[in-house]
Amino acid sequence: MKIIFATSNPNKIKEVRHLLGAPSEILGLSDINWSDPIEETEPDLEGNAMLKALAVSNKLEVDCFAEDTGLEINFLQGRPGVKSARYAGENNDAVKNMARVLEEMEGSDDRSAQFRTIIALSMDGALHLFEGIVRGRIAHNPAGEGGFGYDPIFIPEGFDRSFGELSAEDKSKISHRARAMEKLVLFIEAYAKCKSPELQLSRK
Ligand code: IMP
Repeated sequence: MKIIFATSNPNKIKEVRHLLGAPSEILGLSDINWSDPIEETEPDLEGNAMLKALAVSNKLEVDCFAEDTGLEINFLQGRPGVKSARYAGENNDAVKNMARVLEEMEGSDDRSAQFRTIIALSMDGALHLFEGIVRGRIAHNPAGEGGFGYDPIFIPEGFDRSFGELSAEDKSKISHRARAMEKLVLFIEAYAKCKSPELQLSRK
């Protein structure tokens, strides 16, 4: 089964391929030669996920899904949230983004935070949303080379190491994206069973 994932982020494609496994084939935007930038202009994760999925499905008339993720920190009233990619400026520089978060958290006792992913699936003319959350806390210093983005400063609940220190395997067992993907996969499987034995997500 071929599924289009409306993202240009190679880290996310790698993670989702790892999560779904064979026989599904995940196609990212570069695999379908999509080069139009999709600006994330909505004020929340839900809006941006829907905007990305619809941009592709409306233009190409294919079913596809998109996701938006944010790191939500209690002490910072939910920031960086929807602004996670560009928290320290336009360049999506993970080191600078983490440095800004750590600076703003200086002296704070409440380090609780969560990663939240929203997946929007545009299929057969309808939109479906799936949420995945992993709770944890913000470390005092970055640690680990694995993952991407804020992984080195996020310690998931029940662990004493950051996402950056966990293997891809371990992160994928508990991550926000994995939890949202799990719901997406269950939905697609159930939908396929109800509708036809061979639901093709791509109508191309
Ligand atoms: P996006 O807008 O969904 O692409 O993601 C926003 C930003 O959140 C990314 O640029 C990363 O900095 C961060 N992010 C998203 N997912 C993860 C993750 O799994 N680990 C760490 N940071 C992430």
